[in-house]
Amino acid sequence: MALQRTTFLLFSLALCVSAQDPVPCQDCQQLYLEHYAARNCTPVFDDTVSLCCPASFNCSTGPAVVREDEGCPYRGKVYAVGETVPVTNPCDAGCYCRPGTDGQLPKVECAVVECPSLFNPRKPFCRNLYNSELCCEVGEECTTPELPVDKEPATATGAETTPAPEGTTTQAKPEANIRSTASCTAEDKEYKLGDKIYFTNESCQTCVCTENYTDAFGPNCTTIDCGMDYRYAQQLRDGCTPIYFRNRCCSIDWICPNSERVKPLADQPTESEATTGSHCKLGDIVVPRNASAPTDNCNLNCLCVTPPDLTCVQYPDCDEAAKALETRILQ
Ligand SMILES: *[C@@H]1O[C@H](CO)[C@@H](O)[C@H](O)[C@H]1NC(C)=O
Ligand SMILES: *[C@@H]1O[C@H](CO)[C@@H](O)[C@H](O)[C@H]1NC(C)=O
Ligand SMILES: *[C@@H]1O[C@H](CO)[C@@H](O)[C@H](O)[C@H]1NC(C)=O
Ligand SMILES: *[C@@H]1O[C@H](CO)[C@@H](O)[C@H](O)[C@H]1NC(C)=O
Ligand SMILES: *[C@@H]1O[C@H](CO)[C@@H](O)[C@H](O)[C@H]1NC(C)=O
Repeated sequence: MALQRTTFLLFSLALCVSAQDPVPCQDCQQLYLEHYAARNCTPVFDDTVSLCCPASFNCSTGPAVVREDEGCPYRGKVYAVGETVPVTNPCDAGCYCRPGTDGQLPKVECAVVECPSLFNPRKPFCRNLYNSELCCEVGEECTTPELPVDKEPATATGAETTPAPEGTTTQAKPEANIRSTASCTAEDKEYKLGDKIYFTNESCQTCVCTENYTDAFGPNCTTIDCGMDYRYAQQLRDGCTPIYFRNRCCSIDWICPNSERVKPLADQPTESEATTGSHCKLGDIVVPRNASAPTDNCNLNCLCVTPPDLTCVQYPDCDEAAKALETRILQ
């Protein structure tokens, strides 16, 4: 799977360099395609559709189908029921292959690592320090607030994230009390050494700010592992499609064939009109490329962008969903 993704990236890069195309390649939407990699589908390129993004995926190799009693596939290996699965995500601990129940496939089950910061409110004037190889904070750094003696430190809890506006206090500028200087800038925000960095535009990347920081893909940056390939064996086998939340990395839910959430188009193409690579399918529902299927909620768009699966994205509200649908922009 990792190999295929690399191939896809290399291939798109090569195309971007060689073709004098008017479509900016960096706008290629890689978000919302994660499940194709989990299903071992291979990208198919078609210059008439896009010069750099995959036009569709070839899933004829199919989902990594295993029989019920066979165990859990993970990165090219099948783990027997009961066996430990060496999942690489540091925030998933003690993963093992759990037997399937009620005719469901066995699935990888992990304990979610619960970091201390989840339970302990952050102390005033302290920040958590992270390491890119570990799930939880590795320590904290506190600074001594030098507040004026005659003033209540009423704003202390929020002080390190929301410095008081210029000029509101003359003696205490909270930001002046934080000793480490800002070392990383990402999407116009400043971070200090050890801070965790999240990106709006690269929502699948996260970094820890170090002196070697360059950008979302530099040293001490990692790709968020949604666990698409081990958490959702059943959905992938059943031909379900993920629902994403606008511009977020990991899927929030699934729509499976025969779901009431997506309805066929009034003028749905017939099975024989539907060609591989230019139509999306969800069970009996067939949608031509660039068309959208009606859904049960106006905040949910299911658009045929990259066949064979519909791309379903949920928005904070219906207006935003309608706007996105109008422009055919998935974000
Ligand atoms: C999809 O992949 C299979 C197996 O590699 C291959 O035989 C088939 O021709 C491919 N189909 C398309 C449309 O590329
Ligand atoms: C940065 O990455 C290096 C190499 O992977 C690692 O040894 C180091 O601990 C990381 N530092 C932080 C602060 O994440
Ligand atoms: C995200 O990308 C868009 C389009 O490329 C750009 O206009 C915007 O400034 C970026 N946002 C941030 C926070 O960098
Ligand atoms: C930064 O990179 C240099 C050179 O590769 C390396 O020696 C150093 O340990 C790195 N620093 C961190 C914090 O990862
Ligand atoms: C996709 O659909 C939109 C809205 O109906 C339309 O404006 C656009 O031209 C279509 N794009 C293609 C490539 O057919």
